[in-house]
Parts: sequence; C-alpha cells; structure tokens
Amino acid sequence: MKIFLDTAILDEIKTAASWGILDGVTTNPTLAARAGRSFKENILAISEIIGDRGTVSAETVSTDVEGMVEEARLVTSWAPNIVAKIPCTPNGLAATRRLAEEGVRVNMTLVFNATQGLLAMKAGAFYVSPFIGRIDDAGQDGMEVVRQLVEIKHLYGFQTEVLAASIRHPMHVVQAALAGADIATMPFKVLTQIVKHPLTDVGLQRFLDDWRSIPEDMRPF
Ligand code: G3P
Repeated sequence: MKIFLDTAILDEIKTAASWGILDGVTTNPTLAARAGRSFKENILAISEIIGDRGTVSAETVSTDVEGMVEEARLVTSWAPNIVAKIPCTPNGLAATRRLAEEGVRVNMTLVFNATQGLLAMKAGAFYVSPFIGRIDDAGQDGMEVVRQLVEIKHLYGFQTEVLAASIRHPMHVVQAALAGADIATMPFKVLTQIVKHPLTDVGLQRFLDDWRSIPEDMRPF
C-alpha cells in the first residue's frame, strides 16, 4: 500500500520524505488555506519534493464542467506529477470523463459510498478517494466503503486506484491496508503515530546502554 501525506505544509512533507516511505501528497482547499502562501508556489514546492516517487493532488474549485476541466488542465500543466482533484458530483463525473480522454489524471474526491466510487471508476478517475473518517463521523462504517470499492475494482478490472482518505488514526491505516486499498493518505500526526512505539524507544535505550557496557577496545564503533 502506498503512503501519502494529507497536508500542504512543506516541513511535514520534507520530514516524511526523508524517512524514505512517502509515495505522494494529497491537498484540498482547507489544507491549502493553512499553508499561508500562493497556491501554485506551494503545489510546485510539494511537487519538487515528491519528484518521481509519486503524485501530488491539487483540487479544483469550480463547480461547472468547463471550469473544472480548465482548472484541472491548468494545475496538471505545472508539473508531470500533479493530479487534479475533482469532487464527485454529476459535473465532476462529466469533467473527469473528458479529462481522462485527454490523459489528464483525476483524483475523484468527496466520495462517501460505493455507488459514487463505482461512478468515479466508470468515469475514468485515476484515484477514487472515499472519506473514511467523515463516513465514520456520520455513524456509518467508512472502511466498508473501501472494502467494497476494492472488490468492485477487482471484479470489473478497473484501473482506478482506491485511495483511503480522511484517515484519523493508526487503526484506519491498518484497516485500509487489510482492505486492499492501493493508497492511504493521512495527516502528519497519524504518520508520526504509526512510526513510533514506546517499546521501540525503551528497547533501543536498553540496547545502547548494554552496548556501552562492552569495553571500548572490544567494539568496532
Ligand atoms: O483527504 C481528505 C481529507 O483531507 C479529509 O480529512 O479529516 O478533514 O475528514 P478530514
């Protein structure tokens, strides 16, 4: 499963990239607003950090087909690893179909059930993003939508990658992996949580202490 960061904060992306496990970044208008700099400048800076290792999703904000298509063409023209994020509405589906035919990659976002996800796949979306946490917030099982979309993808041979989004905690990451999601995108806080374990820290400290108890002339470093 690929690991994406769901953020527009460069320091977070640089840190995760330095760990060698980052495959891409997703952003949305809320995250872009927190970045506090020009949208294009910020997306380009993220795109440069990600380079060949994956994609960067930049969201359109028009709600009509023409506007979505134009904005998607624009953001994806900035760098080869940029994917246009488009909401799952009737106009979003129409725009995605047109863009897919032109070879523009679309991340279909704001997907809340399997039927929306199926339509995103049929429209030719490159990624489909079910919003796990927000589905859970509404009292339903977000991960069930991921499981259903993974099954539908394989049953019908869709090429669309299932991108588990709106991930809120480490168990969401585990469940997305077990459900067969192609990608999980998560806030930096969750990525940090899944890296760390208190027993790793305790165990490491003990190993280091024991190592230092070996006389210096008996160890190579
Ligand atoms: O990737 C979608 C994500 O940005 C939404 O997350 O936590 O606002 O539901 P959240």
